[in-house]
Amino acid sequence: MENIYLDNAATSFPKASGLGEFISNYISNFGVNINRGFSELSYEAENIVYNTREILCEFFHFDDPSQVIFTKNITESINVIMLGLLKSSDHIIVSSMEHNAVVRPLSFLHDNGVSFSKVKCSKDGELNPEDIKKLVRKNTKAIIMTHSSNVSGKIFPLKRVGEIAKEHNLYFIIDTAQTAGFIPIDFHDLNADVITFTGHKGLLGPQGIGGFLINSVINKKVRPLVYGGTGSFSHLERQPNTMPDKYESGTLNIPGIAGLNFSLNYIKEIGGLEYIREKEIALTKKFIEGLMNINKIKIVGSLELTDRCPVVSITTDKKDISDVAYQLNKRYGISTRVGLHCSPWSHMTLGTFPQGTIRFSIGHKNTNEQIEKVILALNSIMNNK
Ligand code: ALA
Repeated sequence: MENIYLDNAATSFPKASGLGEFISNYISNFGVNINRGFSELSYEAENIVYNTREILCEFFHFDDPSQVIFTKNITESINVIMLGLLKSSDHIIVSSMEHNAVVRPLSFLHDNGVSFSKVKCSKDGELNPEDIKKLVRKNTKAIIMTHSSNVSGKIFPLKRVGEIAKEHNLYFIIDTAQTAGFIPIDFHDLNADVITFTGHKGLLGPQGIGGFLINSVINKKVRPLVYGGTGSFSHLERQPNTMPDKYESGTLNIPGIAGLNFSLNYIKEIGGLEYIREKEIALTKKFIEGLMNINKIKIVGSLELTDRCPVVSITTDKKDISDVAYQLNKRYGISTRVGLHCSPWSHMTLGTFPQGTIRFSIGHKNTNEQIEKVILALNSIMNNK
């Protein structure tokens, strides 16, 4: 049975074509450390790491490769920024659709005195940026927000949020887990102070590599989360402030960085974000149209195709959704994600808490034929065939 993978919001699969071979070759032929050796191999490794910072600058329209930091994923990036920036007297603003990557560090900080306000999104998962203004307090330090819901697929109007952040002198920190690799993201146009990213979703790279881009103003206010050897300033007992060393203690995931370098180039080679977006949105449209003809299925959130990622969540009163997801997988080889998607807040907003939804998330290798098979499978399951 063919596997029809529709869980690309959890991680992309398949990854960039050739990624496995590239990483294997990299480890076999160049797998040495950077900043810690004196050899041609070490220079090769340093070059690919630096070049990846440069490509990420190009990708996010950012200007300083030394301010591109590698972490293991977006959750770690958000933790570095939130725990390193916020003090107990601070207040921040978040949306009511945040992922636990924001909610859990926020809860920890809240237990330690940090306060926060939630901008309430509509039942359809729409965010009105103007609602942010009335939440700003004297001690508000930052707005931290996802670029798109990982449950409804709605892309938030962050350009306006960035303008409001600047009007009120607030830092603006963006979680691009669902949008990087799908829509163009411009650091300056969004008025961002920090953009956090992960390599293994839309960027089509391996798991275990992510990072953030940080401007020099907010950087001065953020303490590192991890301290240790950087391969530089070894005579100092204190963590260097030099970038990117300040945040990159310990040996980096260099095979992961090399893999991300490969996948970013692959995205360019297959036609860039325009090609990916056009293909994935056409499949999303076909999928939504097919779903609308199935009795008793409710699509959660807005049906609009503009400002949405290729993510569609459904629910039904007629069946147990976990059983539907189980049957999709068992009988038809269709991979989805069912439940709360590490985002209980989104489900509370959308009215699907605590049972959650079945989420279908489309990737660049899915086909029209696969979408047709999924619609047929859902039809059969819903009609007990
Ligand atoms: N945040 C990822 C998801 O939505 C893992 O599935």
